Amino acid sequence: MIDDRKGFKVTIVKLGGSLVTHKDRARSFDQPALRSIGRQLKKSGLPSPSHKLILVHGGGSFGHYYAKRFGLTTKKGKVTARGIAKTTGAMLELHSRIRNVLDEFGINLESILPSELIERREIALSETGLRRVRNAFSNDLIPISFGYVDVFRKGASIVSGDTICEAIAKSIEVDRQIFAMDVDGIYPTRKIQGPIIRTLRNSTEFLSEERKYDVTGGIASKVSLGFRLREKGTEVFFVNGKEDERLLKLILGHYDVPATTIDRGKRI
Ligand code: IPE
Repeated sequence: MIDDRKGFKVTIVKLGGSLVTHKDRARSFDQPALRSIGRQLKKSGLPSPSHKLILVHGGGSFGHYYAKRFGLTTKKGKVTARGIAKTTGAMLELHSRIRNVLDEFGINLESILPSELIERREIALSETGLRRVRNAFSNDLIPISFGYVDVFRKGASIVSGDTICEAIAKSIEVDRQIFAMDVDGIYPTRKIQGPIIRTLRNSTEFLSEERKYDVTGGIASKVSLGFRLREKGTEVFFVNGKEDERLLKLILGHYDVPATTIDRGKRI
């Protein structure tokens, strides 16, 4: 744990693959979405001495496309070397495109490879990862990591960006977790239309939509993660990352924006 961190807030923003890529079109980067994120992050004025930011991004039509094509899943399994190389390569390419756009806005990022950030045996940060995050904070850098391919002695598996968020929250007290997406929040039905659910409670029912390339579980597992984080005291939001500076407002603690949040209760 970063026990000496009291005195500053920590917000994690997960840039969903659906936001940073056109998720249903292979290898298609969403430049305008990234520019909107860049503008909002710049306007936030973070990091500051009292508020630190961590970014994590997903795979969208880069990582998920190859994962699906070569049979990689979140379960450890034998996959071809080609499959591992292509999926990892696509993630690194997406990562560098994200870096380049955010850099245009003067956002100073510290890329931390997921393999050094997290401890493989448990969902938590490694010693190196914790040190890298702490050092990034003290140099006014925004740590950024991403979903990746974990390669074992025999076989490989996908570790989602959401799992990385959970690992961070296990080792650092995270005040706010924001899932930035390409839709306005969580919807009560499979159709992504009409009003969103503003507050997810124990009993709130919702049906998640399915996307063409997605090997890490989609919205349902994201919502379960949200409840686990909420249990630990983290405020959780699902918000449209492109619209009306909603992300910016949430980062700054102005909660009167269209978004889905998670109630205090435990999900049954
Ligand atoms: C997936 O990460 C990473 C790979 C496919 C290698 P995520 O599961 O976090 O990606 P999105 O946000 O759902 O696209």
